[in-house]
Formats: sequence, structure tokens, C-alpha cells
Amino acid sequence: MIEFKKVSFAYETGKEVIRDLSFTIRGGEAVGLIGANGAGKSTVMKLLLGLLFGEGEIISAGLRLDKANLPLIRRKTGFILQDSDDQMFMPTVYDDMMFAPLNYGMTKEEAERRVDEVLERLELQALKHSYNHKLSGGEKKMAAIATILAMEPETILMDEPTAALDPYNRRLIIRRINGLSQTKLIASHDLDMILDTCERVILLSEGRIAADGKAEEVLRDKALLEANHLELPLSLSRR
Ligand SMILES: Nc1ncnc2c1ncn2[C@@H]1O[C@H](COP(=O)(O)OP(=O)(O)O)[C@@H](O)[C@H]1O
Ligand SMILES: [Mg+2]
Repeated sequence: MIEFKKVSFAYETGKEVIRDLSFTIRGGEAVGLIGANGAGKSTVMKLLLGLLFGEGEIISAGLRLDKANLPLIRRKTGFILQDSDDQMFMPTVYDDMMFAPLNYGMTKEEAERRVDEVLERLELQALKHSYNHKLSGGEKKMAAIATILAMEPETILMDEPTAALDPYNRRLIIRRINGLSQTKLIASHDLDMILDTCERVILLSEGRIAADGKAEEVLRDKALLEANHLELPLSLSRR
């Protein structure tokens, strides 16, 4: 489903931030991508979306990531940006949710049916005609997720989905993420959220894999986490 084969990338020549990175994510897996600030998590996401191009080979949505396949890959991949303001660019939630389905050639009736179905599933009907600029941070994040789901993606990439959310909205997002059956790659340093949403964790350190295994095992390894400027999830440190 997603594969990195010896991928390297540098923003500036000579300073590689992704180094010879290889991993595979199978269809239906939920994988947490963790690591200290600057480890390369967001860069991996951007490479996967074809926003950046490096060396090596990337397979996404079963297709080789190149300029020719990019439109189809983008269509099959939903991406939740860290800052929802970068994502919601139409006046209302409804306008944003309709945009991609209409763009992909659906009739207005079909698109509207899909929008209503997603809003109902996320219990967000009340936000349908809300103005994006009047939403709270948590509402905006939920609306961004709804917009992505209206595209019916095969894969969902999320970059720091719980950053800047209050505890209530954080719990809500975690519950909604767990309700999604798609293949998921979630980058975050909120390790409690990763533990609650992912069965597998890839730990990045300076653009390389420092660990790749069961979430319960990687997130329990205090020495490994501390060496990577991370802390044990609260729910594991209390036991
Ligand atoms: N646009 C950019 N130009 C130059 N360097 C960048 C840019 N974006 C990120 N970097 C650098 O690349 C490295 C990886 O960054 P990033 O992928 O954002 O890490 P993370 O998401 O894990 O915090 C960091 O050293 C960061 O400073
Ligand atoms: Mg980042």
C-alpha cells in the first residue's frame, strides 16, 4: 500500500534530513510515526504526497509515485494538515466538503448525499453550513477530517492531529480516528494518542528508523524514547 525504498531527501544540498529510509505499510494498518522535533516526520508526509521529491522510490496507493501518477495518488490519499487553516479554504464547511467530489465529476446530488453521510457518521450535522472562520480549533480539525472523508480516500495521512486541541476535543478526535477503517499513517509526538490509535509505531531519528514494531512494545521502551527526546505515554508510565 505504502512503501519507501531507500528514500533520501535534503532541503539543502549536503544536509540530508531523510536518509536511505525503507519501510512498508500494508493496507488497513494504522501506523504511528514518532520522533523528536526535526526528526523528519512532516518531511516523510510531504514526500508521500509528492509535495517534495527526493531520491529512491516511493509506492503510494499501490502506484509508483511520479509526476504521471500523482493526480491519482492524491485522489486516493487524504491528508490532514497540522494547521486546519491551511486546509479549509472555502467560506463554509459545506463548500469545502463539496469541492473535491464535484471536482472529481460527481453530480451535485451525489456529492451532497456523500457530504450528509460523512457529517452524520461524524455527528457533525450541526456544522454543515457553519463559516470556517467562526469554528473553534477542535471544530475546524473535525471539519477538516470530514472534508477528507468526503473524498473517500484509501489512505489517510495525519500530521500532528491533536496539536493545540483541548482534552475534550483531543478525546473526540481519537475516537473518530479509531472509527476510520482506512490505512492510516499518523505523525505525532502525542504518544498517548499514538498508543490509543495505532497498532504499530515507526520511530524516526535524524531521518532514519530507530525502531519499528508493536506500539505497545516501542512505546514501553523508556531508554529508547528518552534517547529520542520522547517520554513514556502517561497511560504506560502509571502502570
Ligand atoms: N522548508 C524547509 N527548508 C529547510 N529545512 C527544513 C524545511 N522543513 C524542514 N526542514 C528541516 O528538516 C528537518 C526535518 O523536519 P520535519 O520533517 O519538519 O521534522 P518533524 O516533523 O519530525 O518535526 C529539520 O531539521 C528541519 O529543520
Ligand atoms: Mg512535523
